[in-house]
Amino acid sequence: MSDVCATILKPLASPLTGEVHVPGDKSISHRAILFAAMAEGTSKVTGVLDSEDVRSSIKAVCQLGAEVNLKKDGSGALCGTITGWGSKGPEQPEDPIDCGNSGTTARLLMGMLAPWPIQVTITGDASLRLRPMRRNTAPLMKMGVQFKPAEADHLPITEIGNPNLRAITYDAPMASAQLKTAVLLAGVYAQGTTTLNEPAPSRNHTELMLPEFGVPTTAGTRVATVSGPCVMHAADVVVPGDPSSAAFLCAAAILKRGSSICVEDVSLNPARIGFVRTLERMGANIEDARKGSEGKEPYGSICASYTPHLRGCEVPSQHFASIVDEVPILAVVAAHAKGVTVFKGAAELRVKETDRLQAIIDGLEQVGIDAWEEGDNLYVEGDPDLTVPPNTTFPSHGDHRLAMTWAVLGMCSNTPVSIEGFESISVSYPGFMDAIRSLEA
Ligand code: S3P
Repeated sequence: MSDVCATILKPLASPLTGEVHVPGDKSISHRAILFAAMAEGTSKVTGVLDSEDVRSSIKAVCQLGAEVNLKKDGSGALCGTITGWGSKGPEQPEDPIDCGNSGTTARLLMGMLAPWPIQVTITGDASLRLRPMRRNTAPLMKMGVQFKPAEADHLPITEIGNPNLRAITYDAPMASAQLKTAVLLAGVYAQGTTTLNEPAPSRNHTELMLPEFGVPTTAGTRVATVSGPCVMHAADVVVPGDPSSAAFLCAAAILKRGSSICVEDVSLNPARIGFVRTLERMGANIEDARKGSEGKEPYGSICASYTPHLRGCEVPSQHFASIVDEVPILAVVAAHAKGVTVFKGAAELRVKETDRLQAIIDGLEQVGIDAWEEGDNLYVEGDPDLTVPPNTTFPSHGDHRLAMTWAVLGMCSNTPVSIEGFESISVSYPGFMDAIRSLEA
C-alpha cells in the first residue's frame, strides 16, 4: 500500500466562467530576488510569487547576507525591498544552502557565487538531488570556478568561486535558461564579453532583466552576451502573472463544456506562451491580447473557451523550450483530440522534477490513451470520447505540474479521481484550487 496521501477531486459541477488573475511568474520572481540580492543598493519588487520554490531563493539569499523585507499584499503576492551585497560580495554561509525542490535556485546560484572567494555547499530535496548539474558546472569550471567533487553531476556540490573569472564563449548542449543564466551571471564579473549560444531559444527573462540592473547585455534568438566586469545596481521589478499557471486554467476551460475564461495580467513573453500557439494549432478557442509591458516583459490577457472538436498537431523541436513546462497539460488536451500529437525533441522532460516523459505516458495509459516515445519525441494518440475509469489514482511523483495536470483531467471528466501527493502544487501554484473554485462559482 502506498504511504502517500491521495486527494480526491470530483468532476466540475459547472462550467468555468469569468476573469481570473494568476500569481506572479515563477521564473521572473526567482530572477527579481536573485538579481536584487547581487546588486548594490535597495531594489523594490512587486507581484512576486509566494510559493515554495521562490521561498527557496529568498532563503538562499538571506543565508548569503542579502536583506529581504517582503510582505504579502492584498492579492497574496510578495512585495517589498531587497538590499543586495553589491561589490562587497555575499557572506560565507554557516550551513549548506538547501534549494528544496527548486532547480532554478540551485542552478542560478552557481552562477551568482562564481566570482566570490567563499565555499558554499548547494543541496536540495530528493528530487533535486537526482537532477543533472554538470551542464552548469562544466561551463563555470571553464570560467575558473572550482567544484567539489569536480566531476559531480548531482547535488550536494560545493562551489569555490574565483575573483579572476575568464569570459568564455560557450555552445550549450541543450536549450536551458537555467544553464544560460548561470553562465551570464558569472559573466557579469568576468573581464570581457561572455557569450552563450543555444541550440534552440530558451526563455529570455535574464537577458530582459539584467539591463535593468545595469548590466550591458545583448540578446538574439539563440545567442546572449554580457560584458563585464560590472557592479549591478538596484532596480524596481514588477512581476506579471505566470503563463505556466494560466495554462492549467485555460486547458480546463477548453475541456469543460460551456466554459469561457480570461486570465488577466499574465506574462505574454513569446518564449513562454508556446502553449497558446500549440492549442491554436489544435483548433482550440484561445487567444492572447497584449495590454502593456512591465520592464521589457510584455503582459496582457489569455482567453480560452470550451472547444468540442480538437485535432492533433505537431510541435517542432525548435519550439519545444517555449512549452517545456506545459507539455504535461498539453498532452492531456492532445488526449482529447482527434489524431496524433507529436512533441518533437522532448528529451529535457526526462530530467525535470521527475521523469515527466514517462509519467505522461503512464498517466494517459491509465485512461486508455496511447502515448509513446520514439527517439526524443513524445506521441499522443487522442480520443475525443476519452472517459476516465472509476477509482483512477494518479501518482504526482511529488511533481507540482503533474499534480495539476491530472487534476484538470479528472475535474473535466466523468468521475472522481484521486491524486497522490497533490500538495506538491505549493511549489508553483498554491492557490490553484481557489482559482478553479472562483471560476466554477
Ligand atoms: C526555468 C527554465 C526552464 C523551466 C523551469 C524554469 C527558469 O528550465 O523548465 O521550470 O526559470 O530558468 P530549463 O533550464 O530547462 O530551460
